[in-house]
Formats: sequence, C-alpha cells, structure tokens
Amino acid sequence: MTAQNIDGKAIAQAIRTTLSDKVKARKEAGQRIPGLAVILVGQDPASQVYVGSKRKACEEVGFLSQSFDLPVTTTESDLLALIDRCNEDTAIDGILVQLPLPAHIDSSKVIERIRPDKDVDGFHPYNVGRLAQRIPVLRSCTPMGIMTLIRSTGVDTYGLDAVVVGASNIVGRPMTLELLLAGCTTTTCHRFTKNLEEKVRQADLLVVAVGKPHFIPGDWIKPGAIVIDVGINRLDDGRLVGDVEFDVAAKRAAFITPVPGGVGPMTIASLLENTLYAAENYHD
Ligand code: GUN
Repeated sequence: MTAQNIDGKAIAQAIRTTLSDKVKARKEAGQRIPGLAVILVGQDPASQVYVGSKRKACEEVGFLSQSFDLPVTTTESDLLALIDRCNEDTAIDGILVQLPLPAHIDSSKVIERIRPDKDVDGFHPYNVGRLAQRIPVLRSCTPMGIMTLIRSTGVDTYGLDAVVVGASNIVGRPMTLELLLAGCTTTTCHRFTKNLEEKVRQADLLVVAVGKPHFIPGDWIKPGAIVIDVGINRLDDGRLVGDVEFDVAAKRAAFITPVPGGVGPMTIASLLENTLYAAENYHD
C-alpha cells in the first residue's frame, strides 16, 4: 500500500479563501472586520517566524492585525496590563500570546487573563473544559486543524483506536479530547509510557507531536492507518523532517501528512477561523 498524502497546504488555502470571501461579504454588509491582536515577548527566532506568518495570514484574509512586540525584559504585570487593554478593545476579537513565554512570566496566569471569548488559541481552561465536556466553542488551533485534515480523508472516526504521542497543553492533550469527541478510543502516550511501540503498532489513527526527528520508525505503522505528523524538525543538512520516518511509513499507511505542508499550515487556518467565530458569535 502507498499512502495518500493529506495536503494541508491546499486545505488551509481553501479555508483562507473562504474566510476572505466572508470578510468581503461582511464589509459589503457594512459590518466590522474581525481583529486579531498578536503579542510576542522576546526575540526567539522560531517564535518570530510563527508570529510573522500569523500576522501576514491575518492581513491576507482582510482581518485587522494588531501587533505587539515586547522586549524580553517585559514584566508579567506589564503583559497582563496589555491583555486587559486588548480585552476591553472592541476592535479586537481575538488575542494570541505566542508561547513559550520567558521563564519569569507565568504562562497559565497570562492565558487565564485573556477573556475566554477572545481566546482564539483555545488554551483558556474554560475553552479546554468546554471541549472536555463535549460542548466545544473556541478550540485549540493545531488539534482543530488536524480534525479538519482527518475529516478530509472521508474516514469514519467512530470506534477507531487513536494513539496520540505527546501530552502537551498545546497539542497532545486537546488532541486527545478532540479524538474522544470524534468517537475514537484514545490512548495518550508521553515520556513515562511503557511499550510505546506496542501502542503505536495498534493505532488506526496516529498523531505524533514530540519534536524529535524520525522518533517513530516507519515500520511501527499499522497497515492502513491514518498518520498525522505534527513535528517540524530541521536536520543538520537543512532538511525539514517530521517526527515520523515518512518514507517507510508512507508505504504502510492509508493516509499521511507530509512535512512540511501537512499540519503546519492548518494551525494558522484554524486561528483565523476562530477569530471569525469569536467575531460572529460573541462580538457582533
Ligand atoms: N507556540 C507553539 N504553538 C503555538 C500556538 O498554537 N499558539 C501559541 N500562542 N503559541 C504557540
């Protein structure tokens, strides 16, 4: 079997075109355009790249983009004060604080300060709790984008054995909640998991978000599985590779996401969808 690639780049582009049309329709109807505030603290190069892409995407679909670039020395109380101002600003529908934050700032405190109706990252305990209780509203962007990719395959997820490798707040945990909501029997693996290979081998649907190149050998993939690779790792020779050994995995899986061009573009597409959702459902 040779897997079908799941083309995240094309699916994300289609979402962005739809959003762009909706913004045009809003303008023609005399409605406000949605606004997104993107806050970056410090100068981490990877974060700068991600934030740059988010701001550009926001402008491309016609949203209002407000940029805040703060020095690494910013105090927690200064950051909380900026969030308070964004919470009050009626032109802003969504607030995104790029993670990770410098060590002297408590990320949980920052996330909890964002009003849940402007939490377009879907990280606030209110929004994660809504997902856990099967009544999602604003959903974490990467898992939400992955669900869009999985749905694009047309495979019925009810009853599938799903395995998530990685248990972060940003991907692994909300991913498990999404898959549970989609009717999967879920297993979440992490650094203390015993017999990882045995668990991966029985996965009908595998999501890997570890951040280590080729962490999952291709021959662990169950024939016919759906494989979602969240990792983007740069090798010494400059190549970008995922957490899954793609070439071997692609010979066994039914569907697989490439790296790059798989999950990556979907995170931004979901962020934009969430911003419009917040505008339409909470702020219009
Ligand atoms: N850092 C890595 N991924 C993300 C994300 O999806 N949102 C934010 N705010 N920070 C991140």
